[in-house]
Amino acid sequence: MCGIVGYIGTREASSIVLEGLRRLEYRGYDSAGLAVLQDGQLLLRRSVGKIENLAALLAQQPARGYVGIGHTRWATHGGISEANTHPHTDCKGEIVVIQNGIVENYRELREQLLAEGHIFRSQTDTEVIVHLIEKYYHEHGDLSTAVRLAVTRLKGASAIVALSTLEPHHLLAARLGNAGGIVVGYGQAEMFIASDMPAILEHTQRVSFLENQEIAVITSDGARFFSLSGAPLEKDIHTIPWDPVSVAKEGYQHFMLKEIEEQARSITDVIRSRLDLEAGRVRLEGLHAFSAEQLLSIRRIHAVACGTAWHAALLSKFLIEKLARIPVEVDYSSEFRYRDPLLNPKEDVLLVISQSGETVDTLAAMEEARGKGVRCIAIVNVVGSQAARLADGVIYLNAGPEIGVASTKAFTSMLAAAYLLGLYLGQQRGILDKCQMEKLLQDLLELPSLVGKVLAQHDVYKTLAQRYFKCRDFLYLGRGIHYPIALEGALKLKEISYIHAEGYPAGEMKHGPIALIDENMPVVAIAVRDHVRDKMLSNMEQVRARGGIVIAIATEGDQEISEKANHTIFVPEASPLLTPVLTVIPLQLLAYHIAVRLGCDVDQPRNLAKSVTVE
Ligand code: AGP
Repeated sequence: MCGIVGYIGTREASSIVLEGLRRLEYRGYDSAGLAVLQDGQLLLRRSVGKIENLAALLAQQPARGYVGIGHTRWATHGGISEANTHPHTDCKGEIVVIQNGIVENYRELREQLLAEGHIFRSQTDTEVIVHLIEKYYHEHGDLSTAVRLAVTRLKGASAIVALSTLEPHHLLAARLGNAGGIVVGYGQAEMFIASDMPAILEHTQRVSFLENQEIAVITSDGARFFSLSGAPLEKDIHTIPWDPVSVAKEGYQHFMLKEIEEQARSITDVIRSRLDLEAGRVRLEGLHAFSAEQLLSIRRIHAVACGTAWHAALLSKFLIEKLARIPVEVDYSSEFRYRDPLLNPKEDVLLVISQSGETVDTLAAMEEARGKGVRCIAIVNVVGSQAARLADGVIYLNAGPEIGVASTKAFTSMLAAAYLLGLYLGQQRGILDKCQMEKLLQDLLELPSLVGKVLAQHDVYKTLAQRYFKCRDFLYLGRGIHYPIALEGALKLKEISYIHAEGYPAGEMKHGPIALIDENMPVVAIAVRDHVRDKMLSNMEQVRARGGIVIAIATEGDQEISEKANHTIFVPEASPLLTPVLTVIPLQLLAYHIAVRLGCDVDQPRNLAKSVTVE
């Protein structure tokens, strides 16, 4: 979704802002623009489509100056057009604003401002903000006061950055609610601002985070922070452990493939330093806010998430119920937040799973639970993200930045983190004895090398992609712990190849989807050797009996499955609770190669955004 970058310092702002916007392309956008202060004037450059169009425009019409802001827009209000592209200006062209989020009351504000004589040039909700700032500047003669007063008029979540010729020596930023983060980056005689770390990582790893209802005034020497009432605030400066190299493609054609191939390492990174093998225990430093009594008193966990992370939440139910014997209810964040869930603050815990830690529905679900006194545990990738900051306990994935919009390595790390959480709760509650723990830890330790073996097969996916890329529908079937994997396989295919795909619990096939089966719809069946393997075999036979095509994911050496399927991809034998980490990888690779064969924009699929910061 929309991206924000800002710079103030001694270097040319437009190239730093443009490069920052390029690094935010993965968030998803449809147009891009920037504004630079040059010789006391604001120069605006905006274009529809890819950042390269903006770069071409800048090459023809350079904008030179040392202060600038830029934005990638993902349209919400008003079509995709140059006029609707950010930055937006006030009536006189003295103030510019970029925004992430939605102004829910923009219609009423726009009418008031129109009645007061303001001139609007776009159909966006954002434009009301810049006119409000203009109005309050002329009443108070001070930009930070104007921004504060403007922000207090807005309903909905917004992250805003403003720049003005009236006060050219600083940038102003404001955050209202959860419209994605705002990080302020510290350099040497230069400062940065961005919605996401990757935009500024090559310049600095030292950042402060803007919280809800806070304002930052940023000069080239530093930043001052204020509450919405104008009270000064102290902020910590954090050092982010990600290095700039991890956000580069490193020779891969796509980030998605790089991230798929990184999975042996990313799984090692989530378990690293969390296992005490001698003692046969799991250490989760991030959960120390939960006392032994509190962990014992948990009677129910509510797992909430969206998209791929929701599939991880579905899987966490299997893992936590098995390992810690605590019932887990799974909800979409967007449903949980609006259904007035029954929560008991003494016995319930909310488990939030999110790669970005900025997904607006997930943050709202956290607020719903916290409002009812329920404590939260977050499994999150992005360090310092809002979910991590709101949670009482955090398990970081340590997967490094995930740039491909289609989540891959974050998903498998989420599964490993949920397994760790299940082990930890099982150990702390006395469910798992030392001997069981040792075996379960050993299983986990073996996982990265098994992942490496799955990744070592390459050719099969290209062959399958070549054969089936023209199909318009796919069905994915799995049972038990592999049902969420069937859902995930289908989601991966549809989001990057635009092929319709459905995931189904295999036992449900005969209650409807079987009517779809014919020689044009491949059925991907996850049929590894476990307690439901024979049931999967029967389902595969039912598909074949109707002329359907079966692509099976089976355990190495299972010839019977291979004989029943048209194609088989083998995965090594692993502990049943960890096998989903292995079975999902072939589905990621299948989706990837089909999308490449179709010539799709794999890393930035149409209409999608990496962090979904609007409802
Ligand atoms: C994953 O491939 C998707 N692009 C999407 O479903 C994603 O998982 C979802 O938006 C949740 O994001 P989060 O993990 O950052 O909360």
